[in-house]
Amino acid sequence: MPGKKKAVRRKKQPTHKGTASASQSALTLAEKKCILIDSLKTAYKKQYDAVQPIPYIKDRLYCVDKVFVEGGIEHVLETQSKNSQKERLSSYKNIFTDSSSRSYTRRIVKGEAGYGKSTLALQLAYDWCNGVKDSPVSAADVLILLKLRQLGNVRSIYKAIKVILLQSEFRLNSKDIKDILQRCTTVKLILDGFDEYPNRKKVIEVISGDH
Ligand SMILES: Nc1ncnc2c1ncn2[C@@H]1O[C@H](COP(=O)(O)OP(=O)(O)OP(=O)(O)O)[C@@H](O)[C@H]1O
Ligand SMILES: [Mg+2]
Repeated sequence: MPGKKKAVRRKKQPTHKGTASASQSALTLAEKKCILIDSLKTAYKKQYDAVQPIPYIKDRLYCVDKVFVEGGIEHVLETQSKNSQKERLSSYKNIFTDSSSRSYTRRIVKGEAGYGKSTLALQLAYDWCNGVKDSPVSAADVLILLKLRQLGNVRSIYKAIKVILLQSEFRLNSKDIKDILQRCTTVKLILDGFDEYPNRKKVIEVISGDH
């Protein structure tokens, strides 16, 4: 009949969300772990391949491993005492080698602005991605490198990893990340820019949070 439109039945298209959850559930945890590791390595490569040794020359970017020189890292032997002795590390690779009587699992790297804290973090990310021999992070199942200023109000470490490092990886959600990390033997976590984070108490919450 003229003027009357023929009703056309369209097949319902799967939504992006539906596709993601269907493929998520089809994946095993081991497969998800591989996706996590690959995605993290891709995210870190973008960062460690873009080191700018001369701040005003924007078009010359280098891989961190090409520009990194060993600085003078000093290791404070006894953190509780006021006049504690310091020991010069022969390499950043010895950063977790503890010669004091107590052994700590965490390290705080302190230094003035521009002394190379973020560059050290990138070098460690490079080491993990490329399995650099003798690096303290090479043997870790997973390395998480987060810049604290990007954290915003995210209160869970798993959500922070999802939002900051794996935003475009729709096959993994923050629960997957939690499941994977909790089953890893060794996870190294580097939080860069502690001083740039307004609420440091929250950082502690994020580290210990279980959301
Ligand atoms: N170990 C190093 N080898 C070679 N170049 C370095 C090294 N450490 C730092 N640099 C150079 O110095 C610049 C500043 O270093 P970086 O950004 O790592 O300092 P920072 O301690 O993180 O400073 P801030 O406290 O402001 O965050 C880097 O862009 C890098 O080019
Ligand atoms: Mg920095």
